[in-house]
Formats: sequence, structure tokens, C-alpha cells
Amino acid sequence: MTRLLALSGSLRAASFNTALARAARQHAPQGVQIEVATLHGIPLYDGDLEAKDGIPAAVLALKEKILASDGLLLVTPEYNSGVPGVFKNGIDWLSRADMKAVFLGLPVALLGASTGGFGTLSSQTAWLPTLKMLGVQLYSGASLTLARAHTAFDAQGELTDDRARGMLVTLLTGFDAFAQAHRR
Ligand code: FNR
Repeated sequence: MTRLLALSGSLRAASFNTALARAARQHAPQGVQIEVATLHGIPLYDGDLEAKDGIPAAVLALKEKILASDGLLLVTPEYNSGVPGVFKNGIDWLSRADMKAVFLGLPVALLGASTGGFGTLSSQTAWLPTLKMLGVQLYSGASLTLARAHTAFDAQGELTDDRARGMLVTLLTGFDAFAQAHRR
């Protein structure tokens, strides 16, 4: 059994990226178990807050989920052609929690959904220097940049776009093999 964590970088209840993370859970290949997580409850990074109170509970909880998983799916939105601050903030906090234990050698795959025409291509590219810095093992065997996300899901948040679903399953299948081969 491969245990993956699908972390959505959007806080919106009706987020297409959280819906994509849930679709990954729903369409997980046999032998793959996917838990969906979000960044709710994580404060803005503040070195004074860290010095006073230590690592926030929501960050520690997310850290434990990552440590218990064989791989991380970063399901990223795109804001102004870049990484949303909310998502980067969460990863920055996690790096303060214990960068080596959390990220070094961790199998990671990038995917994301946006309402624009290029479907998070720019934000996925913008993640690369950070992921390199963190020392993760980045999966590059398949990609999913879900464009015009508002046309790919139904009102219940189900991924109804057949092509996108096929690409998602291809990515998950490839990443499963990658995560097994690169188990920490
Ligand atoms: C966006 N959006 C967006 N989309 C895109 O394809 N490229 C972009 O550069 C941007 N820029 C951008 C900036 C800001 C501040 C917002 C709020 C939005 C649109 C974005 O893809 C859309 O709001 C998605 O629905 C956001 O993802 P979630 O919240 O649905 O997961």
C-alpha cells in the first residue's frame, strides 16, 4: 500500500484545487491510499510568533501527516502567474518545523487547477526553486495542468472532464511507482 497526502493550496470551500485533491482520492489506483489535507489554521509566518510560541499546532499536525505518507501531491492554484502566498506560507512553516525530516528525499508531485487557459503551468514552474531547496525528490514523469477548471467539475465538485480524469490517473499511477522506488 502506498500512502499519499494530497495537499491543496487553496482555502476556498469551493476550491477547484481541493476538488482536484478529492478527485485524486476518489480515482486512486489500486494499492494507493490518498488523504486530502488543507492549510486551514496555519497563521502567517512570523519569526516573533515562532520564538514566543514555537511551531503552531496546525503546522505540527500537517508535519505528522507528511511523515506518515510515502509521497506528497502538491495541488497548487496559481495567482498572478506564481505560487499563492497561502501555500508558500504553509510550506515555509513546515520547513521551520523540521526541514530535513519533513522534506529531504520526500517524493513530491505537482499538479493544479486554474480557471485560466494554462492551468497552473506558471505556478508549477514557480515551485521548482523551492522544491529544490527543500531537497525533495520531484516526480516529472507526468503532469496535470488543469485549465478552465470551472468547466471540468460539476456543481458537486466531481471531476467530470474525461481527459483530465485520464491524466490524473496516469499521474497517480506513475507517481505511485516513483514513490515506491524512492521510499525514504
Ligand atoms: C487568480 N487566478 C489565476 N488563474 C490563472 O490561471 N493564472 C493566474 O495568474 C491567476 N491569477 C489569479 C490571481 C488571484 C489573486 C486570484 C484570486 C485568482 C484565477 C484562479 O485560477 C481561480 O481563482 C481558481 O479558482 C483558484 O483556485 P481555487 O481556489 O479554485 O483552488
